[in-house]
Amino acid sequence: MIRPLIAGNWKMNKVPSEAATWLGELKEKLKQIDSSHVDILLCVPATHLTSMVAAQGFLALGGQDLSQHESGAYTGEVSAAMLKDVGASYAIVGHSERREYHKENDGLLNAKVQKALEHNLIPILCVGESETQRDAGKAKEVVIAQLHAGLSGVSFESSSDLVIAYEPIWAIGTGKTATADDAQEMCAAIRGVLKELYLAQAEGIRILYGGSMKPSNAAELLSKADINGGLIGGASLKTDDLLALVEAAK
Ligand code: PGA
Repeated sequence: MIRPLIAGNWKMNKVPSEAATWLGELKEKLKQIDSSHVDILLCVPATHLTSMVAAQGFLALGGQDLSQHESGAYTGEVSAAMLKDVGASYAIVGHSERREYHKENDGLLNAKVQKALEHNLIPILCVGESETQRDAGKAKEVVIAQLHAGLSGVSFESSSDLVIAYEPIWAIGTGKTATADDAQEMCAAIRGVLKELYLAQAEGIRILYGGSMKPSNAAELLSKADINGGLIGGASLKTDDLLALVEAAK
């Protein structure tokens, strides 16, 4: 049984002072439920990390991206070492918004995965098909190719060092969700690729579903064998919704 991971992705929302209030609220609410069975992670803008790490000790924090470079003249970029130094333990790699708006390709994302691992940051590699690709019957093919490219040459010590997020692009921020059976089918295919690459270690790698996961659909999605948590955008901005997702991961 893999310990579930409920991972919020705040994207470019909330300023750091709002985050402080939000954290206080979540901390109080978490006292009222048993969350000992779940790991909770928040991937927040880099500007929020220092104060959020200092303000709490009950959840993990992560970046939403990292540079493939070690350090140097890369204006605007955030390095793995910087994320690690301020207390982040995860970094999202290859979110579809970065693939689309910043033209990030699989080769670049492979370098980012490697860079994260070099610095003991756990990469959350995002994969997922567009609506056109799904309608053309190519969803699995696309996702499998993204995985092979993103993980090319990647090795790690423990299965908890890598997380994969299956995020069908058409379900992100749209209110549309993959059915639990469709999501499970894709996550099982992802597990299949991980088995080819990492043999028995694959059994322990967390695969998250992302794309309009919310209190009303989380329990069904999270009940599936190969869905070991969620990468949650919109619903992670409200403490009540996040709390409901933590409870749904039982
Ligand atoms: P959403 O975002 O939950 O708002 O659909 C998910 C994500 O982009 O990771």
